[in-house]
Amino acid sequence: MLNIRQFLLLLWSFLQRWNLGCGFFWLLFCRGEDKVMQPPEDVVAAEGDTVTLDCTFQTTDPSPYLFWYKQDGTSRPQFILSRVKGDKGKTEDEFKERFSSTLNSTMKSAPLKIQELQLSDSAVYYCALRPTVTGSSRSAH
Ligand SMILES: *[C@@H]1O[C@H](CO)[C@@H](O)[C@H](O)[C@H]1NC(C)=O
Repeated sequence: MLNIRQFLLLLWSFLQRWNLGCGFFWLLFCRGEDKVMQPPEDVVAAEGDTVTLDCTFQTTDPSPYLFWYKQDGTSRPQFILSRVKGDKGKTEDEFKERFSSTLNSTMKSAPLKIQELQLSDSAVYYCALRPTVTGSSRSAH
């Protein structure tokens, strides 16, 4: 694409540990048959673009919670939003303007849409699942 905009690399690399059973979020988000699939891929986009990061899941829970986290460098994952059905859920204030997601129960997906990309969006994004049946309200940190 021919433009003068600064290109940014949106790293959306998907740690092996998710494939191996959700790694350090295991206790919180991975029980039994529940599974989250996020393609291991780097997304390269230009500033100002809109990107959609895929996330599909498997669960027997009829109304699962999906979470999106952002991890920048070595810092702890930062909560972006949660979705339970459709647009229902919570979105952190600092992400409200440009980040959105809709949970589609039929497709079992909750893609994260980021609009008007900024250089500061360059990070690793994680999708996580928490079945509501656990009934636990422990927080991640
Ligand atoms: C889920 O996705 C399918 C296929 O894209 C679409 O037909 C359906 O309307 C979506 N459902 C919701 C609730 O958005």
